[in-house]
Amino acid sequence: VSARLRIGVAGLGTVGAEVVRLLEAERDVLARRCGRPLEVAAVSARDRTRERGIDISGARWYDSAVDLAAADEVDVVVELIGGADGVALDIADAAITAGKALVTANKALIAHHGTALTEAAEKAGAALCFEAAVAGGIPVLKVLREGLAANRLTRVYGILNGTCNYILTEMERTGRSFDAVLREAQDKGYAEAEPSFDIDGVDAAHKLAILAGLAFGARIDFAGVYTQGVRHVSAVDIGYARDLGFRIKLLGIARLTEHGLEQRVHPCMVRLDTPLAHVDGTFNAVVAEGPAIDRVVLEGRGAGAGPTASAVIADILDVARGVVAPAFAVPAGDLATLPASPMERHVGPYYVRLSVVDRPGVIADISAVFRDENLSIESLIQRGRAPGEVVSVVLTTHDCEEAGMRRALAAIEKLEAVTEPPVMIRIEHL
Ligand SMILES: NC(=O)c1ccc[n+]([C@@H]2O[C@H](COP(=O)([O-])OP(=O)(O)OC[C@H]3O[C@@H](n4cnc5c(N)ncnc54)[C@H](OP(=O)(O)O)[C@@H]3O)[C@@H](O)[C@H]2O)c1
Repeated sequence: VSARLRIGVAGLGTVGAEVVRLLEAERDVLARRCGRPLEVAAVSARDRTRERGIDISGARWYDSAVDLAAADEVDVVVELIGGADGVALDIADAAITAGKALVTANKALIAHHGTALTEAAEKAGAALCFEAAVAGGIPVLKVLREGLAANRLTRVYGILNGTCNYILTEMERTGRSFDAVLREAQDKGYAEAEPSFDIDGVDAAHKLAILAGLAFGARIDFAGVYTQGVRHVSAVDIGYARDLGFRIKLLGIARLTEHGLEQRVHPCMVRLDTPLAHVDGTFNAVVAEGPAIDRVVLEGRGAGAGPTASAVIADILDVARGVVAPAFAVPAGDLATLPASPMERHVGPYYVRLSVVDRPGVIADISAVFRDENLSIESLIQRGRAPGEVVSVVLTTHDCEEAGMRRALAAIEKLEAVTEPPVMIRIEHL
């Protein structure tokens, strides 16, 4: 193959404009690396008149991105618009139907339709690539699919959302509240004006579902991801976590259990001596574990124009070389349908903070509830002494099952001396 590869870029926003700019700026080295020239032949966005700081005069403009995807002058369609359905899905269908390679950074699209799109792409003999959809600039999918192909992975987990990691890092660094730090993150452009996909864990869940499908050879099950965001993490718990030798991180964790595929996104307490405890700010990290490798840790920028464009262009180079491995490492028809391992069956240690009226017998009542559920307390500390006033009681447990923990917390909440709903954060052995 020496003919130029004709690229159609649908979406010229943060990522799309940087892809176009980088393809031009690195034109010569990229052509050497894949053995053929790369050319942006067609582009599409909503507003043709918008100034984007890139030269698109050599590319044909399409008002309809779906028409671009089907156009004869396009060999590879690069979808950088976003959204699980709508135009992004229409573009994907049009590209695959036309037998063209599709490159996308769209985690929502892949989390919801990735298995079906992969099946369709295989039938059509078209490549489907989405490295940029998970952890932005970290080439984690390629590492799992190719570099770690000899392994049966046992667990894959990571910090998959830079906005949440930035907020938690700043809350710990400054002692400020979630709301104050979120507002600052929005001012700095680290959080969207409508931040719910990030802070409620949905974005991390999209990425985790994709990672889990690839790591465990399973059909993507986004609906099976237990998802809890960082909205309710308080500065108080961040402080107590530090006293106990932990930091609070929003993790996505996937592993196989006796019940099926466990996929969960929630705030975790991680020990200070684990690598992920020190991944700060907007950085992401992914850890893969397996008997042969012990663990591989990848860290880098999980979002932003440059890192995301880097991953998109790596996919384009694979397409240009004609060496694209199956998206989920095995043919889509061979992917297993795994039951979701229920969160109630999750086993691990827990951190619990209670607000209680400081009076004799309260600690005994709390202990009795844990004893009745057969939950073993590791440490229990009453913070402060103020007879008749509300104080914090902080406890950690040994491994227990989530179902029992939930029953215990429901019972504790009903105790007369307990003044607020208990706070529970899972402790993660990493
Ligand atoms: N930003 C990141 O750091 C990052 C990281 C990883 C993955 N991603 C993913 O990359 C994708 C793009 O993100 P982004 O941040 O670049 O988004 P963005 O800045 O909002 O850009 C979206 C682009 O899509 C265009 N567009 C919207 N609707 C369209 C339509 N119906 N037809 C044609 N074009 C349309 C917009 O046109 P106008 O410019 O004319 O409005 C804009 O150029 C998303 O799937 C996102 O999840 C982003």
